[in-house]
Amino acid sequence: MMRAIRFSQFGKPADVLRLETVPVPEPAAGEVRVRLTHRSVNPSDLLTVSGLYGRLPELPATPGFEGTGYIDAIGEGVTGWQVGQRVIPLGVSGTWQEYVIANPAQLLPVPDAVADETAAQFVVNPVTAWVMLTEELGLQEGDWVLQTAAGSTLGRLVLQIARLKGYKTVNFVRRREQVDELLALGADAVICTEDEDVVAQVMGVTNGKGVKGALDAVGGRTGALAASCLQTGGTMLVYGLLSLEPTPIHTGEMIFKETTVRGFWLTRWFRRHAPTHVITVLQSLMGLMAEGHLQPPVEATYDLAAYKTAVLHAERPGRQGKILLTG
Ligand SMILES: NC(=O)c1ccc[n+]([C@@H]2O[C@H](COP(=O)([O-])OP(=O)(O)OC[C@H]3O[C@@H](n4cnc5c(N)ncnc54)[C@H](OP(=O)(O)O)[C@@H]3O)[C@@H](O)[C@H]2O)c1
Repeated sequence: MMRAIRFSQFGKPADVLRLETVPVPEPAAGEVRVRLTHRSVNPSDLLTVSGLYGRLPELPATPGFEGTGYIDAIGEGVTGWQVGQRVIPLGVSGTWQEYVIANPAQLLPVPDAVADETAAQFVVNPVTAWVMLTEELGLQEGDWVLQTAAGSTLGRLVLQIARLKGYKTVNFVRRREQVDELLALGADAVICTEDEDVVAQVMGVTNGKGVKGALDAVGGRTGALAASCLQTGGTMLVYGLLSLEPTPIHTGEMIFKETTVRGFWLTRWFRRHAPTHVITVLQSLMGLMAEGHLQPPVEATYDLAAYKTAVLHAERPGRQGKILLTG
């Protein structure tokens, strides 16, 4: 038997999640079983449990879109993998449990130099940050990019990637105390959205031009302010729903500056691209992590049994990194 976090109705995660004991799944021919040891608690997990995410599971379900562990059993006919090998099973949902069944074609080996805490959150935020900046916005060295919710785990990865690639960053935060913290992490400019003159500050920083690209995870007034900071021909990617508010975009500005505001969802990025391209991106990111250039921050780890404390901690404002579930 194994431990699994489950929910049988949508609602507040701390209220509806339960720790259950369920049978360990057996790998069929062509499958492997992974004993997960570390999983991330992401906003998409909490939104899914709340019934607010784009694609909802059938109930009862186990949350979790990513995690890492080691191969524990190999089904008939599977070659090229060994029991004990550290891996990330891609495309698996329900990682908040001890064992998952995975397709060997979707296993990513984890090099020794990459810590479990990093591997556990390899896919959702690092891949999203990387492809939004380098592919979707097509930024070049010296370009300005603006991001909202800059203190998020993904926002901190954006700062790390910007340093590697030579992008210049304007960062929106909702709490003034985060300004100095992000400047110390290499942000070029950090603006508190409590200020009256947010757009004027961005124009000042970018010599009156505005930013080439923007990444918005907040929506509402913050998303609208970010869109107003785009330069002529600039693009804003909307990738998060943190405020749960619609964004009142200034459509006149969009027309006369010919700006673009569009959505980005990693799940669709995986579907849109050939497996060879996906693997190339994942391998280069894994290489950057093994060399220590990309390091998703961790705020705390909790055993699966402490799931309630973990989700309440993940919902708390002012974190400096990801909450992980271990065990
Ligand atoms: N579209 C995709 O494919 C995709 C993929 C990955 C991630 N995402 C999204 O990326 C976002 C960040 O994820 P994460 O894991 O990095 O998050 P995280 O580490 O949990 O951090 C959340 C951040 O959001 C800020 N925040 C929360 N509510 C806010 C609000 N109403 N107004 C302004 N800021 C707010 C928090 O600010 P404080 O520090 O002030 O508390 C915190 O810095 C999420 O929306 C997630 O769903 C989307």
